[in-house]
Amino acid sequence: MKPTILITGATGKTGFFAAETMIEKGYTVKTMARKKSGATDKLLALGAEIVIGDFHDLASLEKGMKGVERAYLVYPPEDGLLEATANFIVAAQSNGVKAIVNMSQLPVHKYHSSRLSKQHWLAEQMLDLTDMMVTHVRPGFFADMLYLMNGANILQQGKMFLPHGDAYHAPIAGEDIGRSVAAILENPEKHDRKHYFLTGPDRVSQKDIAGIASEILGTPIEYVSVSYEQWAEALKQTGFMSDFLIKHLVEVGKDYQNDVFDKVTTTVEELTGQKPMNMKTFIETNKSFFTPDYLQAYAEKMVAGKQAA
Ligand SMILES: NC(=O)c1ccc[n+]([C@@H]2O[C@H](COP(=O)([O-])OP(=O)(O)OC[C@H]3O[C@@H](n4cnc5c(N)ncnc54)[C@H](OP(=O)(O)O)[C@@H]3O)[C@@H](O)[C@H]2O)c1
Repeated sequence: MKPTILITGATGKTGFFAAETMIEKGYTVKTMARKKSGATDKLLALGAEIVIGDFHDLASLEKGMKGVERAYLVYPPEDGLLEATANFIVAAQSNGVKAIVNMSQLPVHKYHSSRLSKQHWLAEQMLDLTDMMVTHVRPGFFADMLYLMNGANILQQGKMFLPHGDAYHAPIAGEDIGRSVAAILENPEKHDRKHYFLTGPDRVSQKDIAGIASEILGTPIEYVSVSYEQWAEALKQTGFMSDFLIKHLVEVGKDYQNDVFDKVTTTVEELTGQKPMNMKTFIETNKSFFTPDYLQAYAEKMVAGKQAA
């Protein structure tokens, strides 16, 4: 019989696809969320079991991990990652979990000026100290950042305001990360103590992305380069981003300008046997993300998440 898998963050951008892929492969999949929602209904319909749990409630993690052999750990881009990881390790070890795939990020560094990027580095160290099989995925910026950061401006003004100058990166879809995570969970021995830099297939600048989005969405979209200060203020005005996240985005934005994200790897294809999607395919596949209803629902979800934190 195939082992039971726990997918955390299963209502999010990568966890959902990790859960879907593991179900397709015939595994018993438990998915964790803090509460029931339309997203958990969708997971239930796919065949997942829903466990209600919170990274900051150790008892709920211990309960959720009963019978689990392998797990995906994904924490939102907010403060508290280290406590969450410590709770996760304690709950996993007391339940005999054998393998963990950990969501980290490309720019992690022990002296990073972003507290989140530093916390990701420390979380990797904590997991490596355990006797479980551990794999860290370190993606670059998600393709999904296009609608998350610019969706409303694209719809209202036909503009993308970002502080990234002319730098390049290779955006990767959350879906491709989720499928890569599933491939690791299938064969954890092979990937033990590995760090995988996950990227999309093409280097693009924000100007290139604006051009691709214009073509697919059928409306002119212009990239407008702004200062970090202007950007941080605009993000604050959205009302759904914490100061912690805004500071993180500014610090990794500086990495971006320094070409830290200018990297293309073939790791997704090596792990999954399938090429990751490029920006054109991502936008074509997800046109519904660029609609007022979707963006409004997303903003409301973010505000609820910020209030719950
Ligand atoms: N965005 C990027 O470009 C990028 C790049 C590299 C790395 N990353 C990393 O990716 C991670 C985020 O992954 P993602 O985008 O797949 O997730 P996401 O879409 O941000 O979703 C967050 C998930 O975490 C769950 N969650 C939030 N707080 C929780 C808590 N206290 N206890 C239990 N579950 C909780 C949410 O579930 P419910 O709300 O339903 O409970 C949701 O499923 C971050 O660690 C970030 O550093 C992001």
